[in-house]
Amino acid sequence: MTPRIIYGTAWKEQETEGLTYLALRSGFRAIDTANQRKHYFEAGVGAALSRAIHEGLVRREELFLQTKFTDAGGQDHRLPYDSSADYATQVEQSFESSLEHLGTSYLDSYVLHGPTTSHGLADEDWEIWRAMERLAKDGRAKVLGASNVDRAQLEALVEGSAVRPAFVQNRCFARYGWDEEVRSYCKAHGTVYQGFSLLTANPQVSLNPELARLAAQREKTAAQLVFAYAIEIGILPLTGTTNAEHMRQDLEALEVVLTSEERSLIERLSTSARRGG
Ligand SMILES: NC(=O)c1ccc[n+]([C@@H]2O[C@H](COP(=O)([O-])OP(=O)(O)OC[C@H]3O[C@@H](n4cnc5c(N)ncnc54)[C@H](OP(=O)(O)O)[C@@H]3O)[C@@H](O)[C@H]2O)c1
Repeated sequence: MTPRIIYGTAWKEQETEGLTYLALRSGFRAIDTANQRKHYFEAGVGAALSRAIHEGLVRREELFLQTKFTDAGGQDHRLPYDSSADYATQVEQSFESSLEHLGTSYLDSYVLHGPTTSHGLADEDWEIWRAMERLAKDGRAKVLGASNVDRAQLEALVEGSAVRPAFVQNRCFARYGWDEEVRSYCKAHGTVYQGFSLLTANPQVSLNPELARLAAQREKTAAQLVFAYAIEIGILPLTGTTNAEHMRQDLEALEVVLTSEERSLIERLSTSARRGG
């Protein structure tokens, strides 16, 4: 089942276990991580999952677990595979290591962290994707996803895939129409768009005093209105908040319906930022 919001576990280092556990206690059921020790501590996520399952807080079947394959260019020295092996072997080793870290026999979503090149797709990307397709065909990954892709890369991937990406995960800039080019392609092809950095990439919206004032009028926050707007335009939001109150607010945003005044203000702030460059 497609989640409505995802808790992201990047940049938490030794706090990863505690914060992931807190997110589960707060009500998050979808978790995003990566087998990329440079930015994530996947084993810490697994420790939180194991604790929550052991305590009876959640069952594995109720969770949506998503992790990523990161090529050597995106890793530091702590690689989860033998980088001298071929890409198919690297994917297999990274995937097996993720299953071990997360204490699971399958993943709900397995994501290509990013193409190896900034324009188009290289042969290496196809070798990686074909290996990921085998994991999906074996049922070890329920679906596949692609991250940090532009529209042309996504089109190439969709057209050349045997197993199409069910998800795209991108940094979402309001000044580009909330990644309109990629989102519209996703919408036309049944791909769910996961957006990250919804607050931090868009300070002209999330930190706008007028938006904060409108939100405060009904005991909400500007951040909640940004999440509510993202959901309204079809984005599946990620949040990596480290704060218990923000966890509660981010989940509560799922139920917020924007007023037309709030919606127009967000749209105005988004497009004025685009005009301003
Ligand atoms: N695929 C990729 O390459 C990639 C790249 C980046 C991120 N991601 C994924 O996306 C996740 C989220 O990353 P992100 O870039 O969106 O950043 P983030 O880690 O979610 O940080 C967002 C910022 O927003 C704040 N925040 C969250 N909820 C808030 C609220 N209700 N009110 C006020 N502030 C709030 C947080 O502060 P507090 O901690 O104080 O709440 C934090 O400073 C990551 O953990 C990761 O899983 C993926």
